[in-house]
Amino acid sequence: MNIILLGPPGAGKGTQAQRLVAALGMVQLSTGDMLRAAVKAGTPVGLKAKAVMDAGELVSDEIVSGIIGEALDQLAPDVGVIFDGYPRTAAQAESLDALLGARNRQLDHVIELAVDEDALVDRITGRFTCASCGEGYHDRYKTPKVEGVCDRCGSTEFKRRPDDNEETVRTRMAEYRAKTAPILPIYEERNIVSRVDGMADIDEVSNAIVTILDR
Ligand code: AP5
Ligand code: MG
Repeated sequence: MNIILLGPPGAGKGTQAQRLVAALGMVQLSTGDMLRAAVKAGTPVGLKAKAVMDAGELVSDEIVSGIIGEALDQLAPDVGVIFDGYPRTAAQAESLDALLGARNRQLDHVIELAVDEDALVDRITGRFTCASCGEGYHDRYKTPKVEGVCDRCGSTEFKRRPDDNEETVRTRMAEYRAKTAPILPIYEERNIVSRVDGMADIDEVSNAIVTILDR
């Protein structure tokens, strides 16, 4: 099974992808995470992407489709994939079709996380992750069970993203409205879009997604 999680910054794509990985053994391909890893490693892709990401704008279609193709080639053919933050433009949607087709994969579901934009700045500015395993948290909505200790790996180091400030979030939302929301009709025509209330509790959102995938 191959699915896309679609939604604006802070909609919960990463949070829900991590849960599907744990519950269903699928693999999460997050272009944002892969780009941040490239920036950290100082690769040529990372060097090109850093300023664009810090400004909240979109990295080029060629770069992101290239890293998705490379990532798909690392996977066993039968493992299910969750696309988190990709595709984000009509050109990327077209590339994804070609990348999947060439690997005998098909797209089964596009899950749209519907959220109230006013809540997103609050979600994003309160977000932090484990510096060791990447588990996602929030200052109020998802705190570690033991303060300062990661639930998943026990690390005591956490980090925040440089693009998680209000000004950059506004740019990221504008990019989503202008370039990403318009790709939904491509998938609606194929009857593979399901809308989930992304404002519900994290557990409720997960349950709704699993119900859709079970259909
Ligand atoms: P990316 O990393 O994809 O960022 P994004 O789309 O802005 O989305 P976020 O990761 O901010 O939000 P999320 O939906 O994953 O929310 P989360 O689950 O963390 O991209 C970053 C940048 O990389 C882009 O700006 C661009 O420059 C570049 N890029 C990446 N992909 C690209 C592409 N395909 N093309 C071009 N450029 C690309 O949740 C947020 C917070 O809310 C967390 O703290 C969480 O705990 C909390 N939360 C989650 N769900 C709930 C809930 N139901 N209730 C309460 N709190 C919740
Ligand atoms: Mg994310």
